[in-house]
Amino acid sequence: MKKLTNIAVLSAAALWLSACSEQRPSSSAEAMPGGGAGTAAAVSSAPAPHGLDARLVARGSDIYKANCAVCHGANAEGAPDWQRKGPDGKLPPPPLNASGHAWHHPGAWLRDMIKQGTVNRGGNMPSWEGKLSEDDIGAVIAWIHSRWPEEIYRSWLTMEEKARAGQTAH
Ligand code: HEC
Repeated sequence: MKKLTNIAVLSAAALWLSACSEQRPSSSAEAMPGGGAGTAAAVSSAPAPHGLDARLVARGSDIYKANCAVCHGANAEGAPDWQRKGPDGKLPPPPLNASGHAWHHPGAWLRDMIKQGTVNRGGNMPSWEGKLSEDDIGAVIAWIHSRWPEEIYRSWLTMEEKARAGQTAH
């Protein structure tokens, strides 16, 4: 009898957990209208999506707001016409959420892009090397991951694992 009850409780918990992880992507995509203050505190007390470290994501959120939001938008939505070059002949800041293509790139590429920027190659993305630490960049990438819906994050992870396996094979 006791065993049965335990099973019932466990499966109820499992159901609740799966429902929760299914709902999370849409709620996180909608979260932070305007990226108002206090969001970081809310993130650190709530579990982060995709099993990410909530404190790392909260730290990434602060770093993003202070350094990146001015160009990439409060919710990583990018410039409105981001695929068309501006009057200066340079690409506007793209979205870093799932509507852009940041999620098509492995973590090492994203890290390099953030460190190097594109100013030296005729673009408008500043270099963050020496301005943000490796840990800061890791945190901001974790925050970017937290913007992606679960299925996008999972396909990114599959690509990431392949990229890492390729690197170690050489
Ligand atoms: C001055 C505006 C500006 C700021 C500030 C800025 N970016 Fe960018 N970012 C850009 C532009 C413009 C591009 C497109 C560059 C290009 O293609 O030449 C870009 C591209 C990127 C990309 C590549 C995305 C892709 O899909 O190819 C990433 C990742 C990125 N930025 C992350 C960041 C992060 C993280 C920060 C803050 C630490 C940041 N950016 C701050 C303007 C900015």
